[in-house]
Amino acid sequence: MTPRLPNRLQTAADLVRADRLTADVGTDHGYLPAFLVMSGKTQRAIASDIGKGPLKNAEKTVKEYGLEKNISLILSDGLQNIPHETQEIVIAGMGGTLIAEILAAAPWIRNEAVHLVLQPMTHSYDVRKFLSENGFTIDTEKTCSDAGRTYLVISAYFSGKNEEKDEFYYYFGDTVGTETETERAYLKKQLRYLSSRYEGLQKMGNTREAAVFGDVLTQAKKREDWKDLW
Ligand SMILES: C[S@@+](CC[C@H](N)C(=O)[O-])C[C@H]1O[C@@H](n2cnc3c(N)ncnc32)[C@H](O)[C@@H]1O
Repeated sequence: MTPRLPNRLQTAADLVRADRLTADVGTDHGYLPAFLVMSGKTQRAIASDIGKGPLKNAEKTVKEYGLEKNISLILSDGLQNIPHETQEIVIAGMGGTLIAEILAAAPWIRNEAVHLVLQPMTHSYDVRKFLSENGFTIDTEKTCSDAGRTYLVISAYFSGKNEEKDEFYYYFGDTVGTETETERAYLKKQLRYLSSRYEGLQKMGNTREAAVFGDVLTQAKKREDWKDLW
């Protein structure tokens, strides 16, 4: 039986393009590559991790499902030891700052054949900023929830277009709407974060930095479609 993925990994798996060598960076248990192979989405996958312990966990999954011929286990700090013919790269369950650092350390991914599926647990700001300033275009962002927590998954391609966007974009992106409960929950979470940063900085008398958050909040308050998020 195919391993059942938590919603955030299922959302990531749904965004992976079929029939391409796919690497799951920071795989730990290896469920995502196992699911991709067993569901027939891809024939070949890489389960990689920086830690020997997590890679052992992935090995256990690979053996349990008899996927030794389909999944390579690679010990790697980020994308360092990942073969450059890899076209689908998934990085899930890490902070956005670390995800941006991993991407920055691998110039070989600046290639139009490469597709990124990123699931930052925090700091989606850092991921969007890195992507836009380094020639990647976000084609979609999906939200989902698991056990009352909201998650974001970003899909991006290398387009070669470096675009400096504004702070508002780095906090919210421009593909998350207000249609679904999880989209609204994500936007609310970002608004709460911005409000608490703004208030904290104001209390500390750091008006200059507070103004950056204040400007984003002012822009957000102008959005008619966001009126019921406050
Ligand atoms: C919380 S687990 C996430 C596991 C799985 N991707 C998921 O989303 O359920 C984070 C994993 O990332 C690995 N990791 C942390 N930094 C890494 C790096 N620089 N390169 C590769 N893996 C890393 C950790 O060893 C750990 O196994």
